[in-house]
Amino acid sequence: MRFTPRIIAFLLALAISAITVAFLSFVSGTNGSMFFVAGLASFSAAFFLIMYAIEILVYREVTKMHQTIQRLKLKDFSFPRKSIVSDANPLKKLNQEIFVYVARKQQEIDELKKLEIFRREFLADVSHELKTPIFAAQGFIHTLLDGAMDDVKVRDKFLQKAAKSLDGLDALVKDLVALSQMETGEIRMHKEMVDLRLLTLEVCEQLEHKANLRKTLLKIKPDQLAHVWVKADAYRITQVMTNLIENAIKYGNDNGKVVVHFEEEKKHFVISVRDNGPGIPSEHLPRLFERFYRVDKSRSREKGGTGLGLAIVKHILSAHGSKISVASKVEKGTTFSFKLEKAD
Ligand SMILES: Nc1ncnc2c1ncn2[C@@H]1O[C@H](COP(=O)(O)OP(=O)(O)O)[C@@H](O)[C@H]1O
Ligand SMILES: [Mg+2]
Repeated sequence: MRFTPRIIAFLLALAISAITVAFLSFVSGTNGSMFFVAGLASFSAAFFLIMYAIEILVYREVTKMHQTIQRLKLKDFSFPRKSIVSDANPLKKLNQEIFVYVARKQQEIDELKKLEIFRREFLADVSHELKTPIFAAQGFIHTLLDGAMDDVKVRDKFLQKAAKSLDGLDALVKDLVALSQMETGEIRMHKEMVDLRLLTLEVCEQLEHKANLRKTLLKIKPDQLAHVWVKADAYRITQVMTNLIENAIKYGNDNGKVVVHFEEEKKHFVISVRDNGPGIPSEHLPRLFERFYRVDKSRSREKGGTGLGLAIVKHILSAHGSKISVASKVEKGTTFSFKLEKAD
């Protein structure tokens, strides 16, 4: 026999009414109809009370708890937030607590799993990126030692190639160190008043040689804006501008045009770096700021990039409370833009 709340209530109520009637039989002057009324009244009162206590307060909640556990097993975390109200029934509260707790823990576990995959991929990427220039330099030097050294022309060419590989390695390690320092919070931003227009002008001067090689025109707009005063870490923002303008030159077209544009808003300046290069297909845009992500892998490596530039840019800007965004149209060009707080 299955003890449902109804059967338990029935049996208990029966026992209570039997005891009541038994006690009543000791009282003198009681008759049959009084026994009947007392028995019936105590039975029905006990039955409904016990039924209510078991069914409403315990049984239903325990059944719900069981359903909750079933849902948690199936990883269904949708929970009507409204229902987390202060309820008098501790079982109901317990049920909700268990649900919220398990849901949160499961989300943490999922997050940790994602981080673990990310860590593994990053390690694989770093080893691969380090291997490439080391192997190249090693190859050139061994070829030289194996006899190529005797030919002066070959020797110079190979030494230059080995040096180029090692320069690439140096740039990569520097970028990795910068990125890791920024992530561990070792590098703090020293915000000061910076004239971004002047800073950009200096960056353009530095990159002029590279731009000339590709016959790319560098321009700063609008002309009437004499100063662009922002609150920023001058050194870090120089890194940002160098990276964006250098990318625009590197990945733009020959005879191309790169425009740095400043737009004044109430509390910010919007800075954009636009090129009229080949653009970036839209499927690459969401991953562009990930470390080592390159649109055209072989082309980008041959241009000497580490693949970390945009990841560093993103970090620096986020430390300035800003976000970088990109818009690109294939065959038309690419625009990177971000905001910086105005200096008073
Ligand atoms: N202005 C741009 N036009 C086209 N592609 C770009 C542009 N800027 C960046 N990219 C793409 O984004 C990739 C990531 O850039 P970045 O992180 O600076 O790495 P790197 O320059 O070292 O290759 C580049 O390899 C390139 O494929
Ligand atoms: Mg770059």
